[in-house]
Amino acid sequence: MKGLILSGGRGTRLRPLTYTNAKQLIPVANKPILFYGIEAIVNAGIDDIGIVVGETGEEVKAAAGDGSKFDCKISYIQQDAPLGLAHAVKVSQEYLGDDRFVMYLGDNVIKDGINDLVAEFRNDKPNSQILLAKVANPTQFGVAELDGDRVARLEEKPEKPKSDLALVGVYMFDKSIHTAVNSIEPSGRGELEITDAISWLIDNGYRVVPHIIGGWWKDTGKLDDLLEANRIMLDLLERDIAGSVDGTSKIEGKVVIEKGATITGSRIRGPAVIGEGAEVINSFIGPFTSVGPGAKIKNSEIDHSILLDECSIENAGARMQDSLIGRRARVFRTEGLPHVLRFMLGDMSEAGLL
Ligand code: G1P
Repeated sequence: MKGLILSGGRGTRLRPLTYTNAKQLIPVANKPILFYGIEAIVNAGIDDIGIVVGETGEEVKAAAGDGSKFDCKISYIQQDAPLGLAHAVKVSQEYLGDDRFVMYLGDNVIKDGINDLVAEFRNDKPNSQILLAKVANPTQFGVAELDGDRVARLEEKPEKPKSDLALVGVYMFDKSIHTAVNSIEPSGRGELEITDAISWLIDNGYRVVPHIIGGWWKDTGKLDDLLEANRIMLDLLERDIAGSVDGTSKIEGKVVIEKGATITGSRIRGPAVIGEGAEVINSFIGPFTSVGPGAKIKNSEIDHSILLDECSIENAGARMQDSLIGRRARVFRTEGLPHVLRFMLGDMSEAGLL
């Protein structure tokens, strides 16, 4: 069996970060979202993975490499335009051959992994098996209607959903999906929809079965989703202090301080992670905060936030919360007069004032 991870897409809802970075590489608990998907697939016993990439392909390749750091083999498949999930399967036909495979949307995080789903698919051998979860807002997802132990109908982002079972971004297929993706037409939004391809399977007598999960999962398309994923994943960490902490600092609860990080005169209250080489001076880092490698926090208080590599926060003056700070971004207090707010914000940036 093979794995196919979709890591194209533009990440428009996470601008400005996604102007310069692939959304799948935004870190959650200091690990790129994409890596959670790779690890979930490898954990389920699959070691041959294809990653479909778009405009940000080079960056994705540089981060995930040939797969050796995950104990798997990674191949890259170029998708020239984001023309839909079924289109991604189409461009991967050569890589996939006749093998059965799991398709995993690279911006999804599933807390309990996919071992059960993959095991069920291996044993039961339906043509397709789809991962479903009950949601409060089904209009924002593909929605499934069940008939006994089969999937009877699927609808992509319906106005009037017929159930509250959303398609989580993980799908199992056998080779029949290739006939399906070659038989459907683009949808109203101009994409080849995987939901249409699966509907084609159902309509043509193939067996499509559900696998419903109860555990936490998230499609990390927006800032709030990222902060929630960060919260859940930080909570799974085990305390590990590899960096240096001076005698006047206090480290409370589940905190990871990576090697080369220095904590001086500060309090870190977990769950939190402080990345390699980061510096925290005379500051409070509160629960559910990830501080990226090489970041510098001085005379400031931060909680429930994600700080990327080498950013710096100095003399913030009020506690920062619910924030996402990009690579090398700087937040600091201006000295002297005039006593003004001064910004240099990229396109679509946001600044919340007191
Ligand atoms: C895609 C699928 C949708 C599914 C969702 C899960 O939507 O089209 O059926 O429920 O992923 O993350 P998108 O996030 O591309 O809008």
